[in-house]
Amino acid sequence: MKRVGLIGWRGMVGSVLMQRMLEEQDFDLIEPVFFTTSNVGGQGPDIGKDIPTLKDAYDINELKNLDVILTCQGSDYTEAVFPKLREAGWEGYWIDAASALRMKDHSVIVLDPVNRKGIDQALDNGVKDYVGGNCTVSLMLMGLGGLFEAGVVEWMSAMTYQAASGSGAQNMRELIRQMGGIHDSVATELQDPASAILDIDRKVAQYQRGDSIPTDHFGVPLAGSLIPWIDSALPNGQSREEWKAQAETNKVLGRYKNPINIDGICVRVGAMRCHSQALTIKLNKDVPLAEIEDMISQHNPWVRLIPNDREVTMRELTPTAVTGTLDIPVGRLRKLNMGSHYLGAFTVGDQLLWGAAEPLRRMLRILLE
Ligand code: HSE
Repeated sequence: MKRVGLIGWRGMVGSVLMQRMLEEQDFDLIEPVFFTTSNVGGQGPDIGKDIPTLKDAYDINELKNLDVILTCQGSDYTEAVFPKLREAGWEGYWIDAASALRMKDHSVIVLDPVNRKGIDQALDNGVKDYVGGNCTVSLMLMGLGGLFEAGVVEWMSAMTYQAASGSGAQNMRELIRQMGGIHDSVATELQDPASAILDIDRKVAQYQRGDSIPTDHFGVPLAGSLIPWIDSALPNGQSREEWKAQAETNKVLGRYKNPINIDGICVRVGAMRCHSQALTIKLNKDVPLAEIEDMISQHNPWVRLIPNDREVTMRELTPTAVTGTLDIPVGRLRKLNMGSHYLGAFTVGDQLLWGAAEPLRRMLRILLE
């Protein structure tokens, strides 16, 4: 059995990973060793079998004994530990949720329903570093993988509606606090059916612009508003999140020589943990809509075509419908006014599942095959 070290298993992505590994009985197939940055010698989680006490996540000698390391601890940890481990001669497999190694030549971005061939080739070539992709990119590729596989995408623009979870657990809490604060600021008026909506609206705006709304984590109100900037600024005017769309998609697809142009605007909205994306796709030929639907729906078992119908869309193509599931619904599919080569689409996916934890545990499974 492979000795697999788990690091960052208590955080938000790590907890979702643990839950999925338990559901899929992954622990039956490995010898798990749990690590900690704060509680060395403490008890590990209950996974239904005996495990050693918690080991120090910075102890290179301890880490060197592992066949596989699976970390959700974040980029700072990766940057601190990964180079030392490799320098110390460790030749095990490193599976990482953080972005630090994602674009390195020695790493592969893992999303096996889309790039299983690339992963297999990398394994054959002795590649040891496997990194989960940016959530938005992974979710888009899970939805539209069929179009890329068929080679019909000339370029794409992704306008995103990204959930609070992408910023972290504390941000999710802050969003709910902001929502509660907004409600509290007009609770009396809401009770009275005769109160004027414009008075309520004015009070809400006053609360949102005031000092009492909690904004320690987002910096500004997100509830009842949005933030059209995610991650740091790049010199060309893109946000880093926007930059990732093209860079990572092409890396996943192995298109180093002939990259597909992808760009758009990434926006934080008040959803909890599902990222949504409105996509404009320029096709390189006039593919009939029925064929496009087949390409999309047959690509993988999780993608689900939502008919371009108001009722079904409202029920099934939303963060509320998708949250906590592995479903990747794709809908609003239609040719746009610009011409028969222009396709519109909308997709939603759970940012913590296919967007983070699931590709990692599946990579582990590939190593165990
Ligand atoms: N960068 C993403 C976001 C999260 O901020 O929503 C993880 O990839």
